[in-house]
Amino acid sequence: MPGGGCGVSAGSIPISAANGETPTVSGSRRVHVITWGCQMNVYDSDRMADVLAAAGYRQAADPGDADLIILNTCHIREHAAEAGCVAQAAGAEILARAPFVDLVFGPQTYHRLPSLLARVEVEGKAIDTEFPAEPKFDFLPEQRAFAAGPVAFLAIQEGCDKFCSFCVVPYTRGAEQSRPAAAVLAEARQLVASGAREITLLGQNVNAWRGAGPDARDWTLARLLRALAEIPGLLRLRYTTSHPRDMTEALIAVHGEIPALMPFLHLPVQSGSDAVLTRMNRRHRAADYLRIVERLRAVRPDIALSSDFIVGHPGESEADFAATLALVRTVGFAQAFSFKYSPRPGTPAAVAPGQVPEEEKKARLAMLQALLREQQSRFNEMMVGRELPVLLTGPGRHPGQLVGRSPYLQPVHLDASRAWLGSIRSVRILAAHPNSLAAVSLQPQEHAAA
Ligand code: SAH
Ligand code: SF4
Ligand code: F3S
Repeated sequence: MPGGGCGVSAGSIPISAANGETPTVSGSRRVHVITWGCQMNVYDSDRMADVLAAAGYRQAADPGDADLIILNTCHIREHAAEAGCVAQAAGAEILARAPFVDLVFGPQTYHRLPSLLARVEVEGKAIDTEFPAEPKFDFLPEQRAFAAGPVAFLAIQEGCDKFCSFCVVPYTRGAEQSRPAAAVLAEARQLVASGAREITLLGQNVNAWRGAGPDARDWTLARLLRALAEIPGLLRLRYTTSHPRDMTEALIAVHGEIPALMPFLHLPVQSGSDAVLTRMNRRHRAADYLRIVERLRAVRPDIALSSDFIVGHPGESEADFAATLALVRTVGFAQAFSFKYSPRPGTPAAVAPGQVPEEEKKARLAMLQALLREQQSRFNEMMVGRELPVLLTGPGRHPGQLVGRSPYLQPVHLDASRAWLGSIRSVRILAAHPNSLAAVSLQPQEHAAA
């Protein structure tokens, strides 16, 4: 899978065991889940494991030991598409093309996994890529089957009604759907009880979240964030991915009010040209984006920004591309994902006039990425000498080393004992690398138990 990105999901392919047996739901069977795609797919894979744990499956660390292998794939990431693993969009085609695949299901039907597997037992093959009337969240086990790490994802919203010209999400994930606040709060409390200190709320359009509150009022994401911030032990909050159109004044304001809300926001803009934004059906102008950034910085001066960009959307001229570079220079990003436009069957842009030649797309992407890399390096270098609170999340590369996360989502490496995992420690940044920071702890160490 190419690095980074976020986005859109397409499906999952359970295949029969390496030992050739047909998967069943009985006995103590083992499942191995492979995930390609964005954070939403990572979350879905965890929840599939929960569903299967309730049906008696244990996890196999190695695919060779598994009775059931699930490949949870993406429709946007190029390699996933090349592998033909795009269940929601191309389920029947996959079954025909890949004889080792027994079952294909989309991201909206995995709560039905046990019955789908039972169907495979009887019928040999099965496919389920519909958009069911019942929201899957109502049918997922309430308890997570596995302990959360210090950082956890929590899906609160799914689907998209925005229909950007280039994007498959509205077709693969379906219409926009928000989970009720009470369900979100309950899941967050559970995650914290099982060890989570930082929660990232997930949604394709997470800031369009609108749900019934426990007070029977209609809540917005701003209100939900305030309620989440009150959960004892929940030290950090983030949310992703947002659309500029749903970046309301109330949501911007909470960035200045909730200390647990981390000063880092992923806010895709795609292009800096109004002509391209119009063709993309983004329904905002470059100036709207710049105003949001300005407002965010007014309430939270240290907020760092990340974004997604597409170069070479149909109709993008040299001047349009120059406008994107200009926007990048104006904002100054801490980090970003950028892609060459890639036509997705069934989307309006795929058949739009003015397709940009591959060579041109390549050249523009290289130029944009050079600028973004330079900004990211500069942002990381700005941290050197500073003191930062770092949430320690896992073992580092070397013995005796841990890795953690800065408030700005930078990986931070430091020597520390494993007893510190899951805690926030004050560190001094010693050095900056293109994708991470090196630090030394400012607090006395208990002795190192590597
Ligand atoms: N819902 C989010 C992101 C959706 S997909 C949003 O609206 O911003 C994640 C990213 O993949 C997009 O932001 C876009 O930059 C990229 N992407 C989506 N479709 C693409 C395509 N057809 N070609 C190239 N990049 C694409
Ligand atoms: Fe795709 Fe646009 Fe919806 Fe984002 S807002 S998921 S880019 S259609
Ligand atoms: Fe994500 Fe790819 Fe799906 S970006 S939602 S995994 S098509």
